[in-house]
Amino acid sequence: MKKCVAFHSYKGGTGKSTISSNISVLLVKMGYNVLLIDMDVYAPTLQTYFNQEPKYWINNFLFNTAEFENVIYDLTRLIKNFPNKKETQNELGKFFVAFANSSKEEITKLDGALGQDSSKLELLRKFILMKEEMAYENDIDYIIIDTSPGIRYWSINSLAIADLIILSLKMDSIDLEGTKKMATEIYSAFTKLGTKSLLLFNRAAGYCLPPNLIQETSYAPEANYANILSEQSKVTDTFKKEVDMEIIGNIPCYCDIQFDSKEFLTVLKYPYHPFTHLLHGLVEKLENI
Ligand SMILES: Nc1ncnc2c1ncn2[C@@H]1O[C@H](COP(=O)(O)OP(=O)(O)OP(=O)(O)O)[C@@H](O)[C@H]1O
Ligand SMILES: [Mg+2]
Repeated sequence: MKKCVAFHSYKGGTGKSTISSNISVLLVKMGYNVLLIDMDVYAPTLQTYFNQEPKYWINNFLFNTAEFENVIYDLTRLIKNFPNKKETQNELGKFFVAFANSSKEEITKLDGALGQDSSKLELLRKFILMKEEMAYENDIDYIIIDTSPGIRYWSINSLAIADLIILSLKMDSIDLEGTKKMATEIYSAFTKLGTKSLLLFNRAAGYCLPPNLIQETSYAPEANYANILSEQSKVTDTFKKEVDMEIIGNIPCYCDIQFDSKEFLTVLKYPYHPFTHLLHGLVEKLENI
């Protein structure tokens, strides 16, 4: 196995699920075998994102009610059959996804088990074993983990088994402050153990210029937007120094993605979208880290 990459953030809605899903697909298109795991076990979304009705979940694997091969779903066909004829298809890798159960009962069960030390240890042992199994017994090149925001048991476990952590954040002050705290309190420990962690600014300014709808002469959108961009670049530079982490990317907020009632694999739907272009760059960096 080449790498296990966890997508994490302080606040919710920073693009972890969107980016981890799109990146997984790009890696598959490059010929890699990828396993994407929904470890946002407290509020899973990948089942809805991929529109699947799984019989078994990662929860079943953790509680010994299913073998790992039963909880990973081969969704390579979704990429193969994606209706975009413009693209020439390279040899695809395999695309596996493991989903987390969003039922209240299952979430409570996981939380309940965490109250007992023996169950907690057993669940963690299973989780670590899963990575080993993928690395040595299955032909998986990349494990991509979509985690829960903040410092929660399964996020920390996901970070602990990752070789690389991508910490996504938006440019608002609450997210910046929280991320800074998390980076110094939590990430520094992982860095000491040899895990690399990188910052990914997402949903930043840089794409949608607000129109001057009211035609008011005192408000000039271009000038205002130029200020925002300049301010943003100062904030990212300062932040990078303060947390002592490298920045792997800076992705603008694309209104067409933001307001799409169901964003689904933009990298396949719009291969020439600037979002796709940036994610190609991100994947290239991931490969070379
Ligand atoms: N660069 C972007 N431009 C525009 N919209 C984006 C961008 N990145 C993500 N989004 C949108 O932002 C919303 C939140 O993204 P997503 O669900 O991936 O975040 P998340 O970090 O997984 O959230 P949560 O922590 O709640 O699981 C989605 O509607 C997604 O389509
Ligand atoms: Mg998510």
